[in-house]
Amino acid sequence: MVAGIEKPILQVLHGAAQQRPPVWLMRQAGRYLPEYRALRANAKNFIEFCLTPDLAIEVTLQPVRRFGVDAAILFADILLVPHALGQTVAFVEGEGPRLEPIRDAAALDRLDDTRFTTILAPVMETIKGVRAALPSEVALIGFAGAPWTVATYMIEGQGGSDYEHCRAMAWREPELFARLIDRLVDATTSYLLAQIEAGAEVLQLFDSWAGAVPAPLFDVAVIAPTARIVKALNARHPHIPIIGFPRAAGSHLACYAARTGVDAVGVDHMTDLLGAADAMPKGVAVQGNLDPVLLLSGGAVMDRGVLHIVETMAGRPFIFNLGHGVMQPTPPEHVARLVSLVQGKA
Ligand code: CP3
Repeated sequence: MVAGIEKPILQVLHGAAQQRPPVWLMRQAGRYLPEYRALRANAKNFIEFCLTPDLAIEVTLQPVRRFGVDAAILFADILLVPHALGQTVAFVEGEGPRLEPIRDAAALDRLDDTRFTTILAPVMETIKGVRAALPSEVALIGFAGAPWTVATYMIEGQGGSDYEHCRAMAWREPELFARLIDRLVDATTSYLLAQIEAGAEVLQLFDSWAGAVPAPLFDVAVIAPTARIVKALNARHPHIPIIGFPRAAGSHLACYAARTGVDAVGVDHMTDLLGAADAMPKGVAVQGNLDPVLLLSGGAVMDRGVLHIVETMAGRPFIFNLGHGVMQPTPPEHVARLVSLVQGKA
């Protein structure tokens, strides 16, 4: 136990293993919940929804109330950053995000940070409102996309399978690519500082497409920009822990942990959890890594998968989570079962 810290997830992030691991789930708020769909139906579009504090507060709290998870994650989206930099971002029903792609210097120069703080101010109101409503043992996690993952959307203009334009820019126009990454490092740092100042107690950097980075570019695209953000946040707020989630980073995981300075690493379901934990530098916790498909399936096979992870990680600083986000068709009852199994209440 670390003295003076009451929330289990903060204990783990300060290096202290818990009797039972704290649990929260990536995408724990979202379309698989009927109460989410009911609120979402009233909103004009997804960005407006994220930027309306009353709605975002309510949606952030929904999974806390329903399941008793140990942490709330701010309801927002990684693509609010390009939106606040003036890039056109739209969420097309059934197709996912669409952005006006940035492929040259002229498009990059059109990004504009003069309204960045103002546009994102409602997110800070959401954080304040959530903090005021959360039970005392539940922590609030703020987040942002890591520069590489946000850049993939900004350059491709949409989610994609292999990020051809983005990789091509990183290889062929390294200076242009570096300028975009630099803009994102600065914007993300100021956004996360504001989240901490509004009341976020933990931060997670989502690098969901880290697995698409060619190995020789992993340092410039993933490790160095993440390290700069972590360093800037630590300099101002040394006690706010940061979780990095470089999904599908495979063989880079240990190096990522050692060189970015994060306090914990999110592990995807393709990676051996115990192997990842053993490879961490001293004091770095791990989080993960149940296959979201197992949560979708439910039943005895899910129970076994959950208990296997809990038993394997006993005695280590560990946070239970999925290997990626909750899938949309997941029955909420399966989530309730998962949480009660991890919490030893089943
Ligand atoms: O985890 C949570 O519950 C908090 C909220 C949250 C959302 N997006 C809400 C959301 C978080 C942490 C994110 C992060 C995010 N957004 C990531 C990183 C995590 C991951 O899944 O890899 C990424 C890549 C995005 C970008 C994004 N946002 C995509 C690709 C989509 C479309 C997906 C789809 O299924 O349509 C979104 C939209 C989005 N973000 C939804 C939610 C609840 C669905 C929007 C809706 O209600 O219409």
